[in-house]
Amino acid sequence: MGRHGFYGLVIGLATIAFSPGVGAQAEPFFQGPKKCLECHEAEYKVWEEGTKHFTSFKEMHKTDEAKAIVKAVGGKKNPKRNQVCTLCHYTMVQKDADAEAKARAGPSCESCHGASSDWFPIHDNFGGAGVKPEAETAEHRAERLKAAADAGMTWPYMIYDVALNCLSCHGMTNPELDGETVTAMLEAGHPINPEFELVRYSQGTVRHRFYRPDTTTNAEMTPAELARLFVTGHAASLVSATAALGKTDHAKYAGAQKARIEAARAALEAVSAAVPEAAALLSEPSDANARAVVEAILDKDLTQEVGGMLPGKGTYK
Ligand code: HEC
Ligand code: HEC
Ligand code: HEC
Ligand code: HEC
Repeated sequence: MGRHGFYGLVIGLATIAFSPGVGAQAEPFFQGPKKCLECHEAEYKVWEEGTKHFTSFKEMHKTDEAKAIVKAVGGKKNPKRNQVCTLCHYTMVQKDADAEAKARAGPSCESCHGASSDWFPIHDNFGGAGVKPEAETAEHRAERLKAAADAGMTWPYMIYDVALNCLSCHGMTNPELDGETVTAMLEAGHPINPEFELVRYSQGTVRHRFYRPDTTTNAEMTPAELARLFVTGHAASLVSATAALGKTDHAKYAGAQKARIEAARAALEAVSAAVPEAAALLSEPSDANARAVVEAILDKDLTQEVGGMLPGKGTYK
């Protein structure tokens, strides 16, 4: 059984035994990437040295393109303070639950793993002070994974949730972005990229896979893992693009969502013989049907079905 399969199983059996830390009543807040650097240096370096998520913080707000887009949506002139831009472009960090949130980085660790104030003290507690990860019991592990997720953490193994989250920015499906605003942004030249595909966008500059036991190697995925990631990404894309069609009928927006739906359908049709759950998702693109597909493929090798559709390494972003 693969790593993801194991996690899926233990999560199913888990019970709540942790209580989220300080601030559990309030919304969890973002602590910023520096908070993670202390223990996740390798991941931090990947983010800092190679990604647009990192460099955009210094660049985007200065461009003429950005100024025109800000003008079209109204509100604060500086994108780092404009409530629309900060939804996707920045990590809005708070010192504590009551402090003001300030843009401190581009999209960073918590943009993908969840605002960390509540899950932070839970996620690396293996059963008390000094207990090493290798010494953690299976039961404790299951409880830890569940408790951190309940406190807002998106674990790497929750790859369908990770994918939906990429799309809330890259697919412009964020529910806090209304149809009128997205129309104004697009009219003013904001890009919308129907080509966002999870393998291509996550296995290039963004990739960080320093898993135990070899925590010094940024491991590449196997072909079977890539195939599963491809199908998972398209399952998420089909659900989010279908739901997004209701936001606005602006031609660029609707056109991009329809292109994503078409690509997702092609990928899911290719696996429908091997994965019977895909038929239900194709006829009713609901979140539950997508999760059923993702669950069903955890142990499957779909390289025969979608290997030919995978993006070439040279095209990775
Ligand atoms: C005090 C040290 C420490 C800090 C600070 C810390 N972490 Fe962790 N984190 C760990 C340890 C230890 C693990 C478990 C690693 C393992 O199982 O090999 C972990 C695991 C993780 C995982 C899951 C890895 C997996 O194998 O599934 C993610 C994601 C993660 N941390 C993100 C973050 C983010 C984001 C921050 C900053 C907000 C952060 N961590 C801050 C120690 C820390
Ligand atoms: C729903 C998420 C979302 C919102 C809201 C959003 N953007 Fe973007 N923006 C993106 C994404 C994703 C990209 C990258 C698109 C691509 O190339 O795939 C992008 C790209 C850009 C670019 C072109 C790339 C660059 O760095 O020069 C500019 C300029 C830009 N955004 C400005 C803005 C401004 C200004 C606002 C606020 C008025 C804003 N965006 C709001 C998601 C968003
Ligand atoms: C663009 C989204 C994104 C950002 C930004 C991001 N991660 Fe991740 N992270 C992921 C995904 C996706 C995985 C799963 C990788 C896999 O299993 O293939 C992951 C896996 C991990 C893991 C487990 C693998 C490993 O390297 O041990 C840790 C720990 C982690 N991230 C920490 C961080 C930290 C710390 C930062 C900020 C410096 C960060 N992540 C930024 C998406 C992101
Ligand atoms: C909080 C919003 C947000 C999330 C979540 C997010 N991104 Fe991004 N991403 C952006 C923005 C904004 C840009 C554009 C930055 C710029 O050009 O200024 C971007 C740029 C990128 C780029 C560079 C694209 C290029 O053309 O060079 C890649 C690759 C990428 N993101 C991958 C991912 C993946 C994979 C995920 C999910 C695992 C993800 N992103 C999640 C906002 C986000």
